[in-house]
Amino acid sequence: MNFFKKVQDKFSPKRTETEVAPSVAAIPVPPVETASSAEAPKVGALDRVKSLIAVGSGKGGVGKSTVSLNLALALQQQGKKVGLMDADIYGPSQQHMTRAVRPKLLDGDLIEPSDYEGIKLISVAMFSNSGQAQLLRGPMAAQVIRQFLSQVAWGELDYLLIDLPPGTGDIQLTLAQIAPLSGAVLVTTPQEISLIDVRKAVSMFQTLNVPILGVVENMSYFICDSCEKKHYIFQQSGGKKLAAECGAPLLAEIPIDPRVAEASDDGRPMFVQHPSSTVGQAYTQIAEKVLAQEQMHRGSDGALGYFLLEWK
Ligand SMILES: Nc1ncnc2c1ncn2[C@@H]1O[C@H](COP(=O)(O)OP(=O)(O)OP(=O)(O)O)[C@@H](O)[C@H]1O
Ligand SMILES: [Mg+2]
Repeated sequence: MNFFKKVQDKFSPKRTETEVAPSVAAIPVPPVETASSAEAPKVGALDRVKSLIAVGSGKGGVGKSTVSLNLALALQQQGKKVGLMDADIYGPSQQHMTRAVRPKLLDGDLIEPSDYEGIKLISVAMFSNSGQAQLLRGPMAAQVIRQFLSQVAWGELDYLLIDLPPGTGDIQLTLAQIAPLSGAVLVTTPQEISLIDVRKAVSMFQTLNVPILGVVENMSYFICDSCEKKHYIFQQSGGKKLAAECGAPLLAEIPIDPRVAEASDDGRPMFVQHPSSTVGQAYTQIAEKVLAQEQMHRGSDGALGYFLLEWK
């Protein structure tokens, strides 16, 4: 069975008569590359993207997807053109959090990304039925990532954020290997059990020479309605400690706010519904700091360039 057929079989969404856009499966894919192939991908789809930033953690459930989406919106509010790629092939969240529609197929095998409030968005969930598991082996998931990088018409963007899955596995390595990442934002919760996994992500990015732009501590504390006191449910200052360890700034401490989960489930994220809340203000602060950090790491020529990782 060829690669194209395998992807088609795995995604195989049941399309209705009215649907005009194709599934990922319907889009011709480049020839399969073996894991050992270190050839540069076609970067045509990325050639007007100034900066790619991964949002990762290593740890699951700490808020990577929530941070990616709200940060994308906050960067846009700073006047930037922003895209968001959901690289979580097995547990995609961005479609649910935005209800973004299935992308269209353009001429020349390119996919037009979906649009959410001006953010260009792509997620594998846009190509499959709700609740359908992505039964893909690692190399095929990595191939979907390659397609997202090389066959999505991202157009002109200041920032393309990449919402990473948990762990430090195939997808993270594929991305770090083939995408010219200009930095990574780390997300953690304060407790040590989270920091243990996030340190593995730090080590991965450092090994791959991807600069760490900063650490977001999510679910830092809870402010009780009646006493207005900060309750540090998951210990205190883990994010600050991690930031010091990796020599990067602490970008913000975001409180636990039940409206964050409600907003995500409504398909209208916190930064859209409550931009002036404490959480909303934290995202504005993160965006400002990320812009400053990314400029600092980018260097003086302002050009991203393309690099090919060399394994040590
Ligand atoms: N600050 C917060 N306050 C309250 N709920 C939050 C906060 N941040 C995230 N959440 C909620 O926590 C849950 C997990 O968040 P999210 O899906 O963004 O994590 P993740 O790290 O992307 O998870 P995964 O590893 O599965 O991809 C979601 O229900 C989200 O709405
Ligand atoms: Mg996620």
